[in-house]
Amino acid sequence: MRNVVLSVVFGLMVVIPVPSEAVVPLPVEIRSVGDRYFSLDENVSWRLVGVAGDDAAKLTRYLDEVYPQIRVVTSGSKKQIELRVVEDLEPESYEVTVGKNRVEVKAGDAAGLFYAVQTIRQLADENGGRLPQVAVADAPRFPYRGVMIDVSRNFRDKRFIMKQIDAMARLKINRLHLHLTDGAGWRIEIEKYPRLTEFAAWRRGETWKQWDWRYVECSDPDARGGYYTKDDLREIVAYAADRFVTVIPEIEMPAHSEEVLAAYPELSCSGEMYGHSDFCIGNEKTFEFLTDVLDEVIEVFPSEYIHIGGDEASKQAWRTCPKCQKRMADEGLNDVDELQSYLVHCIEQHLNSRGRALIGWDEIMEGGLAPNATVLSWRSPQNGFKAAAEGHNAVMAPGKYCYFDGYQDVPHTQPEAIGGYLPIELVYSFDPAPDSLSVETCANIKGIEATMFTEYIATDEHAEYMLYPRMFATAEVGWTPERLRDFGNFRERALTMNDRLRADGYNVFDLRNEIGNRPEARQPVEHLARGKRVIYNDCHWAPKYHADYEATFTDGLRGGWNYNDLRWQGFYNGDSDRALDVTVDMDEPTDITYIGADFIQLCGPNVWFPEKVVISFSNDGENFTPLTTITTNLLRDNKVAFRNFSWAGNVKARYIRYQAFNRWRFVFTDEIVIR
Ligand code: ACM
Repeated sequence: MRNVVLSVVFGLMVVIPVPSEAVVPLPVEIRSVGDRYFSLDENVSWRLVGVAGDDAAKLTRYLDEVYPQIRVVTSGSKKQIELRVVEDLEPESYEVTVGKNRVEVKAGDAAGLFYAVQTIRQLADENGGRLPQVAVADAPRFPYRGVMIDVSRNFRDKRFIMKQIDAMARLKINRLHLHLTDGAGWRIEIEKYPRLTEFAAWRRGETWKQWDWRYVECSDPDARGGYYTKDDLREIVAYAADRFVTVIPEIEMPAHSEEVLAAYPELSCSGEMYGHSDFCIGNEKTFEFLTDVLDEVIEVFPSEYIHIGGDEASKQAWRTCPKCQKRMADEGLNDVDELQSYLVHCIEQHLNSRGRALIGWDEIMEGGLAPNATVLSWRSPQNGFKAAAEGHNAVMAPGKYCYFDGYQDVPHTQPEAIGGYLPIELVYSFDPAPDSLSVETCANIKGIEATMFTEYIATDEHAEYMLYPRMFATAEVGWTPERLRDFGNFRERALTMNDRLRADGYNVFDLRNEIGNRPEARQPVEHLARGKRVIYNDCHWAPKYHADYEATFTDGLRGGWNYNDLRWQGFYNGDSDRALDVTVDMDEPTDITYIGADFIQLCGPNVWFPEKVVISFSNDGENFTPLTTITTNLLRDNKVAFRNFSWAGNVKARYIRYQAFNRWRFVFTDEIVIR
């Protein structure tokens, strides 16, 4: 019991220890009400009151599994944990009061009782199987608390999925979004289209990285991959339902569909098997295929939300495809964005007619959002905020905070990942509905989702490593009010929760020994050019890599492990002889002994050190004298690396010019340090 709160008892302020380190996500209110313990032993029973039918059966199954020594009964007896649904609490919310001989649990619904059991479980785990005398009052901040697992790029079997559902439930996460289809393999049995699972689910090559972008017959002796039968999926759905988790299936359209088009080439614009990612929207058969598939999906998944993808369509073939052009003319569509939007509108109508709701990645906003659609905002928080401001529901999954395929610690100490750097502290720092938005907008933001795309994640062990403990942070962002969140306090509880999962056979990242961000990025750097004006000499940063715009190189903020962290500014100038060319104006002639900048290299995404750097000075801003020219021979390598390109000496100058050259490649730097 480390944390303390002030409480008013009989008019006196007293300090009471609160065992908050035991519970993730942190409950809204948890206070100590006595110093005794209630033992969860075989003399105790659970009593269900006000819960019947399916809900009672679900809770009983779960309690029998987790606490086999404690019976579930319907009658009263002396040492009992009474689980009661009451009318005056909201859905998913609950209260627990631990007395000497009784534990009283009240909740707004069966899900609330289930979450009370999770809190009880964590408190008991922390206290040797006994409950400390506490009173808890708790409710979620958001109704949608989700995790996405990509089972297309690297297929995971149903046991793995069920194991993760167990962990999600312990964290009060209530949505599992399964990315079931993508170019790397179709993963759901569809009776009407058997080629999807005879062919489009299989490849040679164990992992996504080894794959040659071709599919093979399932009978091929080297076939790797797989799919879920409808029975597998029903089993997953039922297992999740017992844990109050809804499984949301994602069927990608109109893009990320290479596997479908290889199996059914007539659905692509050219009719060719390979070379397309997008469905032909001019073709009636596309609509027939998609609605047939969705009808079979709906049979298996009771979820109200059906995810239809919508991301990253190239839209290229549509521009010249006669069928797509005819569709655009017939429907009065002005551009290919509107053509995609037309498809999404049609699919939404179909889903709505079946009593379901459409959710899709935020590209579904382009060309006009379908009227009842919910946006899953991944490219930036702003897309979700915009959708919410316009009256749509939004769920927040911005890459910067929610993409668990990125590194969680110093990249060269970690298993190879797709890139990026997303430590748990950054996951935790996200506020999905900040106060700066209007009350109405915030009300339309339904929650948060962590996503795990698996291009680089081939094994179960690696997948768990990427999920935990970062998923704890997602759980707390989704559940706990912003005013109660504190990273230091959370981290302590996350260490405990991590130990619990490890003890239960999960392969978790070792948070206790986390190294953390690039040391240079941890605090601002002081130097002579801080706050000085930077002139861009006929060069411009790449639009996505603007960092802090003109202020980037003199704001004192150094970049971290990831070139994408908006501390590094990126330049790409094709075949021009210059990528980066800026002048720092020191305001007056200044005695200078050092000028330098760090560059980041990650060859996979074409980010390189400069081949040549020239540093020069001037006092009139026009005639520059070189101080140094640095040239390097660059070798391709797979690791993120950093190198300083600098000059040291003595000069008095007002203007410092820094040029970095590299053709056909990106260069990124974070700060021009002048001393
Ligand atoms: C996505 O990451 N393409 C949704």
